Amino acid sequence: MTSSPLARESSRSVSRAARLRGEPRLPGDKSISHRALILAALTNGRSLITGAGDGQDVRATAAIVAALGATVERAREDGLNVDYRVVSPGAERLHEPAGMLDCRNSGTSLRLCAGMLASLPFFAVLDGDDSLRSRPVARIIEPLRSMGAALYARSSDTLPPLVVIGRSRLRAIDYATRVPSAQVKSAILLAGLRAEGRTTVREAVATRDHTERMLRSRGIEVRREPATSSGGGPVAWTLDGGARLRPVDELVPADPSAAAFWLVAGAIHPNAELTLRAVGVNPTRRSAIDLLARMGARIDETAVGEAAAGPTAAGEVGEPLADLMVRSSELRGIDLGPDEVASAVDEIPLLCLAATQARGKTTIRGAGELRNKESDRVAGIVNGLSALGARIAVDGDDISIQGPTPLVGSATETLDDHRLAMTFAVAGLIASGSTGIDRADSVAVSYPTFFIELERLRA
Ligand code: S3P
Repeated sequence: MTSSPLARESSRSVSRAARLRGEPRLPGDKSISHRALILAALTNGRSLITGAGDGQDVRATAAIVAALGATVERAREDGLNVDYRVVSPGAERLHEPAGMLDCRNSGTSLRLCAGMLASLPFFAVLDGDDSLRSRPVARIIEPLRSMGAALYARSSDTLPPLVVIGRSRLRAIDYATRVPSAQVKSAILLAGLRAEGRTTVREAVATRDHTERMLRSRGIEVRREPATSSGGGPVAWTLDGGARLRPVDELVPADPSAAAFWLVAGAIHPNAELTLRAVGVNPTRRSAIDLLARMGARIDETAVGEAAAGPTAAGEVGEPLADLMVRSSELRGIDLGPDEVASAVDEIPLLCLAATQARGKTTIRGAGELRNKESDRVAGIVNGLSALGARIAVDGDDISIQGPTPLVGSATETLDDHRLAMTFAVAGLIASGSTGIDRADSVAVSYPTFFIELERLRA
């Protein structure tokens, strides 16, 4: 990988790797890191968060929590992960922020903080970068308004900046989400913590349940119907408002969505053996691992215990962890339906890359929600992989890929989207010649050392 002196400072090029070996370091789970900071702010006392991901998204949430009156100390950092020590006066004593709350590129900061702010009786404005300003907020405005908070947004209440005027006595609601979204579910549950009565969120398919597990570990009873995470189908989450959170020490697992880049790299590269340590394999997050295995990826999984915070309440509390080892694999095409898209929503671009190296056709149906991410990831992945010679097509919300196709190095456009940048960089490890990644510095959103790891693996 070299940077051309003529290219923009942040562009990179990745050349084919002769072999891939080693153990890439992984960032702490981004979803869990955001939630640990928000829950620490709502808790009276001192919370320790060990191994939070130190990407820009999580930093945005840390700054928001500090702007509301929690003390956020970076106790240890190594360029990839950070330990936070958060001391908060508790939800009742957080205060109105003096300025705009900057979510930067982070949809999770925006949606989850809106849920927290809905129950805090003051005025706040959530804003972010150009990408964030194009992401939908009506999906959280509607339920949080019906709980009694006032929310307003640009463009007829559809786009950030988002104004939240919270209210300390919210009404509990029983709400069915229109699109499967852990961010929307979590926003409602966070508001429900301080609402009068029982809040229920119903989902057509279970999305990541970190908020629910983390609330349980802080002493809140969150019920799930049906009771366990095995088996798909509709699910309802319920909690009663008014209980106090207790402070805990949280150990953040390695991020499975970051691990997925190396799982695909290892599976599609002809001479690879990579090991990923202590990855979070929560059943609501592990779909990409299982889909890759269904495609024929050689992934060995060894359970290595649980990252648990605090004593257990009813139901699932901690986060199961596993070491994963992936080797060069012969992949085959598969069919994915909308439920599988929802459960692997962040990994679909990577699965498209894997499909270019799989024998036969892969069909991904119902991928429309990918257009609402940090970029239009349907357009981004189809254009980027096409530029590398893949046979990939889109029809409405369905993507189809015919493989296997040898990839040919070329310039790709990442749309300033961290996951597209990393996906095209992984493609560059098997493509002939050199693969250009424009605006490669976007990887700092979730995985600041991504290119350092990539270089170490080929050494
Ligand atoms: C996230 C939920 C998902 C995911 C995002 C993180 C979370 O978004 O894409 O990267 O931490 O709750 P949606 O809930 O909008 O699908």
